[in-house]
Amino acid sequence: MNVQNPKIGPGEKGAARCPGAPSTQEILSHDKVQAPPSITAEHYKFLGDEDIAYDRYITPEFAKLEYERMWNRTWQWACREEHIPNVGDYIVYDIGAQSFIITRTAANQVKAFYNACLHRGTKLRGSGSEGNATDFKCPFHGWQYNLDGSLKYLPCQWDFPHVDTAKTRLPEAKVELWQGFVWINMDEKAPPLAEYIGPEVSAHFAKWKLEERYVAMHVIKHMPCNWKFAAEAFLESYHVIETHPLVALSTGDANSQYDVWGDHVSRFLAPMGVLSPHLYGKHTEQDVLDTFTLGDRTVLGDDKLTVPEGGTARGVMADVLRDVMTKALKSDLSSYSDSEMLDCYSYNIFPNCFLFPGISLPMVYRFRPNPKDPTQCIYELLFLRPIPAGEARPAPAEPFTLTLGQSYSEVPGIDPGFGGVFDQDTDNLGLQQEGAAASKKRGLTLGNYQEIRIRQFERTIDKYVGKP
Ligand code: FES
Ligand SMILES: [Fe+2]
Repeated sequence: MNVQNPKIGPGEKGAARCPGAPSTQEILSHDKVQAPPSITAEHYKFLGDEDIAYDRYITPEFAKLEYERMWNRTWQWACREEHIPNVGDYIVYDIGAQSFIITRTAANQVKAFYNACLHRGTKLRGSGSEGNATDFKCPFHGWQYNLDGSLKYLPCQWDFPHVDTAKTRLPEAKVELWQGFVWINMDEKAPPLAEYIGPEVSAHFAKWKLEERYVAMHVIKHMPCNWKFAAEAFLESYHVIETHPLVALSTGDANSQYDVWGDHVSRFLAPMGVLSPHLYGKHTEQDVLDTFTLGDRTVLGDDKLTVPEGGTARGVMADVLRDVMTKALKSDLSSYSDSEMLDCYSYNIFPNCFLFPGISLPMVYRFRPNPKDPTQCIYELLFLRPIPAGEARPAPAEPFTLTLGQSYSEVPGIDPGFGGVFDQDTDNLGLQQEGAAASKKRGLTLGNYQEIRIRQFERTIDKYVGKP
């Protein structure tokens, strides 16, 4: 049983692990089809244990610092490439007050134009809009821009002798394409995305090829909390036993693995099909198997599975899942290990991108601040499924927007149990935002291991906002 992490050394800060429970890697070592090196890697580092002030989640002053020093220097995905498949297709991406027209200017080229007319500033395309264009014409006085951003037409040019029309073009943010996403960065001096993510984690994704998946579901919800509170709720499994007790029946929560790489990347590996260490001795392997399918019954179906004498729920799931999902997804999944099929992998690419490359929970999250109120944010949940073998890429799902009071179970096609889990998270977040304002202690206290990703996240925020 792994109580101390041998790489850190017993007694050192951050070395303790859930007593009496196998580590994630010990659980994976018993799998029939072994996980690749990307999954067996461990990368924890102790990063401090002081409290983190609540003001950063509440005040307009801190939100302003984030806009002026962090959002405009970091890589963010603006859309999927499949949202703009043809030349001239565009979609508007907003972050805070900033707005960009993301458009395909050639088969292999995408540009991100600042969405503001060079005359008197009018947005060229409204927020949330998309379509296909041969040029972008301002609705106010009709200045017109080519697809490549150059000026096409300036009405009454005789009145603007001071405008060099040959040199006039819409300013652009940096753009990169990776894993089927269009990434943008407003900082002209930003490092390339591969360097920002780092070679190790870039290599992890080389196999998963998210560019070969499609958007099967897209849900947008406005949340009653700062964007960081929302993001941080998904950086740990620590809350599972209290918030999602049913999920704990089939999740290694207290023995999930947490990794951090540099400033911009972190992940957890939550082993599925195993009982939470909090519940040891209280449930059978059959109980675990019965609840595991909660994750996504739309794919797994309702077949009753049985754990054989001496077997484990995880073993049964690994055997069954690949078969069932190969048929359901009409896709060849033979190259995936048991862990990649079963487990919940969550990678954060700072600041607001969460990628879950596993097959049974193939999600993407994006969190954006509400520019009008730092105690509100916009949370997006997408499902990225493998493209069915031999079929054309399905069109990306249209976003389905939920109001604050609506349940995730109202999303068409979502598994109701799965929707309920997201509702449980939403309920917490409103209370957390209010509690942070009500608190006398004025700061949050983090676990050294299970909340290391939050520590790294806030430390990186500090690095950006501390740099004028
Ligand atoms: S503001 Fe765009 S043409 Fe005048
Ligand atoms: Fe949760």
